[in-house]
Amino acid sequence: MNILVTGGCGFVGTNLSIFLKKKGFKISSLDNFERKGSKLNYRILKKLRIKNYNLDISNYHSFQKLPKFDFIIDCCAEAAVEVSKNEIDRVINTNLMGTLNILKKAKKDGSKIIFLSSSRVYSIRSLNKIVKNKKIKKKIKIKKKIKENFDVLLPKSIYGFTKLSSEMLIEEFSFAFSLKYIINRCGVISGPLQFGKQDQGFLSLWLWRHLSQKKLSYIGYGGFGNQVRDVLHINDLCDLVLIQIRKFRKINNQTFNVGGGKESNISLKDLTQICQKITGKKIYISKRPSTSAYDIPYFITDNSKVTKTYGWKPINSIFDIINDTYKWLDKNKLILKKYL
Ligand SMILES: NC(=O)c1ccc[n+]([C@@H]2O[C@H](COP(=O)([O-])OP(=O)(O)OC[C@H]3O[C@@H](n4cnc5c(N)ncnc54)[C@H](O)[C@@H]3O)[C@@H](O)[C@H]2O)c1
Repeated sequence: MNILVTGGCGFVGTNLSIFLKKKGFKISSLDNFERKGSKLNYRILKKLRIKNYNLDISNYHSFQKLPKFDFIIDCCAEAAVEVSKNEIDRVINTNLMGTLNILKKAKKDGSKIIFLSSSRVYSIRSLNKIVKNKKIKKKIKIKKKIKENFDVLLPKSIYGFTKLSSEMLIEEFSFAFSLKYIINRCGVISGPLQFGKQDQGFLSLWLWRHLSQKKLSYIGYGGFGNQVRDVLHINDLCDLVLIQIRKFRKINNQTFNVGGGKESNISLKDLTQICQKITGKKIYISKRPSTSAYDIPYFITDNSKVTKTYGWKPINSIFDIINDTYKWLDKNKLILKKYL
């Protein structure tokens, strides 16, 4: 089976490409190295003889010239929510026009699509209602989990808009042209090969800043570091995508929430403690009480649909994720210094 992974040199794309190649699939990547670090990931793909098409996903003509693929796994995006506020044109071109280009090609070639969507399709105001206090002074009790039917109507950031409108375009192509798809709405994903930055990949960033003894800040909600996210190990996502490919004939045209869930989540404050323990280093963390309109205090995925459908659930704990990410950062710290 011939698979194109778009964004194939990014964090998710590289991990998926390596994993699926080792399972015997023929893998190609498409990536224009927009993300810092993607060139470094490309070196791994090259060693595995995975070809990368170095082109912009929003370039319709170049994209249509690519060969035919059985599957397109779309991992290509500007993945940072905050960037989408300032670089609207680029984000819409990459995240939405890119999807349209993929769909036009998939329609022509009869390719199947697996789309990496996001938990940020859900309304910010509705998510903000879960934890009402603007200052979160105490640890949040994990109660509410977010299902696929949570509110998507109110504003969700430009990034979230591009993801939800991509999903809707996919559904339209499916309805009109019988294109077959799976949409995975992922929460935070982490693990090796992730180049964390302030507005995307917080777990990797937190570990790296401790390791390299640089400063950090608790931003928002009073600056106490009590905001919470669930985190999914990239290996668990790879396992799920493999099951989805293998069962695609029977299970398709579905949208799933996919995340670490109640079993794998963490606040920034707790992450700091673990980072101190694992690296043996303590760094200065300042408090910045207010945050961006795009920020949310809490997200915990309800995985019940994806678990019921495939019998899949994450097997890696938050400690496994931190440990594996740390090992990769520590082993490669000399070269990573140039990229992080
Ligand atoms: N990492 C997460 O926590 C997370 C969570 C939810 C959803 N997602 C989604 O998963 C997918 C993969 O995310 P990631 O974390 O691997 O991000 P990433 O930034 O590491 O990877 C994206 C890749 O796309 C490439 N790219 C960007 N613009 C491009 C363009 N115009 N043309 C060609 N290539 C381009 C980048 O160079 C990068 O290698 C994205 O769609 C993202 O929205 C990620």
